Amino acid sequence: MCSVPAMTIRPATAADVPAVLALWQRERSAAALLPDTEDALGRAIETGALLVAEVDGSLSGTLVAGFDGWRGNLYRLVVEPGHRRRGIGRALVRHGEERLKALGAPRITALVGVEEGEARAFWEATGYAQDRRISRYVRNI
Ligand SMILES: CC(C)(COP(=O)(O)OP(=O)(O)OC[C@H]1O[C@@H](n2cnc3c(N)ncnc32)[C@H](O)[C@@H]1OP(=O)(O)O)[C@@H](O)C(=O)NCCC(=O)NCCS
Repeated sequence: MCSVPAMTIRPATAADVPAVLALWQRERSAAALLPDTEDALGRAIETGALLVAEVDGSLSGTLVAGFDGWRGNLYRLVVEPGHRRRGIGRALVRHGEERLKALGAPRITALVGVEEGEARAFWEATGYAQDRRISRYVRNI
């Protein structure tokens, strides 16, 4: 349950790009390795994967909820520091889940930095279990 009555969640548009980039710059995870660019955001906006939460018309949070035709993936969950612990993160995740379910995703993965203890507490509180059978292999192309 979100305790922010004036909050709305919607797909991002091109007009949101500067505010999203600024939030991601300020709150950048130590685990994020690739630069955030307008082009990259443009692609996430085009597919409808980038969701934004607004409070009183200002950006208060983001989530990328992407479907690759097989599984759903959540990235870039960030809530403005002054708006945390009011249910916005959980509301963004529930919204993303609805989107992914509607697209046909049967399972969702959230990538969480191993040193991000607060984020881990959030995901556990939101109903996500750590899968200890899987490790992630990556390659930049
Ligand atoms: C993680 C984050 C997105 C949570 O957003 P939020 O809007 O504050 O989360 P919510 O208010 O919806 O919290 C839901 C529940 O998660 C848990 N939780 C959230 N933040 C927590 C924290 N800092 N420590 C422990 N538990 C936490 C609580 O159980 C909380 O419920 P409660 O407030 O009723 O106790 C936010 O702290 C953030 O943006 N952090 C920096 C970026 C980040 O780490 N993103 C995640 C990357 S994987």
